[in-house]
Amino acid sequence: MPSQQPLLSVEGLSKSFSGIRAVDDLNFVVERGEILGLIGPNGSGKSTSIDCITGFARADQGSVLLDGKRLTGARAEQIAQAGLSRTFQNVRVYDRLTLMENVLIARQAYDGVRWWQALAGTQACRGAERRASERGRELIHLVGLSTMSAFPAAFLSYGQKKLLALAMALMSNPKIVILDEPLAGVNPTVIRRIAGLIQSLNGDGQTFIIVEHNVQFIMEHCSRVVVMEQGRKLAEGPPSLIKEDERVLHAYLGKADAVAMELAFHGQ
Ligand SMILES: Nc1ncnc2c1ncn2[C@@H]1O[C@H](COP(=O)(O)OP(=O)(O)OP(=O)(O)O)[C@@H](O)[C@H]1O
Ligand SMILES: [Mg+2]
Repeated sequence: MPSQQPLLSVEGLSKSFSGIRAVDDLNFVVERGEILGLIGPNGSGKSTSIDCITGFARADQGSVLLDGKRLTGARAEQIAQAGLSRTFQNVRVYDRLTLMENVLIARQAYDGVRWWQALAGTQACRGAERRASERGRELIHLVGLSTMSAFPAAFLSYGQKKLLALAMALMSNPKIVILDEPLAGVNPTVIRRIAGLIQSLNGDGQTFIIVEHNVQFIMEHCSRVVVMEQGRKLAEGPPSLIKEDERVLHAYLGKADAVAMELAFHGQ
């Protein structure tokens, strides 16, 4: 019987830093196959929420359920193995390693093969490595970086590093990919490529949470949007309703994002 429960449930999530409530009783769900947009002004708690959900920070309160499995308090590695993968606002790749080595390292974080098993070179291990290499090649091709595959990641532009980070996040066949500002600092050509990839992966059933300041992108590509302000959920709904929500525009007024928001809401 198909499961009725949401793929991800975030309930009562809170996190403070020295008295500042960075995330304050946040609740939302993610349904299978959707692209959920998470927006809000600078400092509204988006990245901290993602850090708490993925185990990179410890929430003070709240629970996270993935496919009904409680992830609260689990380590980042365990959460990744359960099917939540992520990229970081400040792109994290290993500059000295080749693109292929980068994606293989990402895989190792999830597949449970330990270094001593790899050293022992068991048959199962060799099979897993062969499959990982094939998957890595496929994903590097998918993000359009095949010609650079054997080069160190340091050779890549910032936008290309974001593409590599996306390939790394996909290595584990995650249930949900969380992208923290995938378009920030990226030129329009790469923005189009990332947008196209997200659409086509989603067409194949991949679920996403996307944190972005590019509100136009969020409005065009997301099925639902959660808006945060000062750690709290300010609004939630389909883009058509969020565009009409006075509270949302008000939250952005006076902020650097206001112009982008205005354009996204009312066209150019
Ligand atoms: N490690 C930390 N130590 C102290 N305060 C922090 C830390 N991380 C985040 N904060 C604070 O928590 C609040 C939320 O920050 P967060 O980075 O989650 O916001 P954000 O919505 O991702 O912002 P941006 O859009 O600028 O990336 C801010 O007030 C920030 O200064
Ligand atoms: Mg952030």
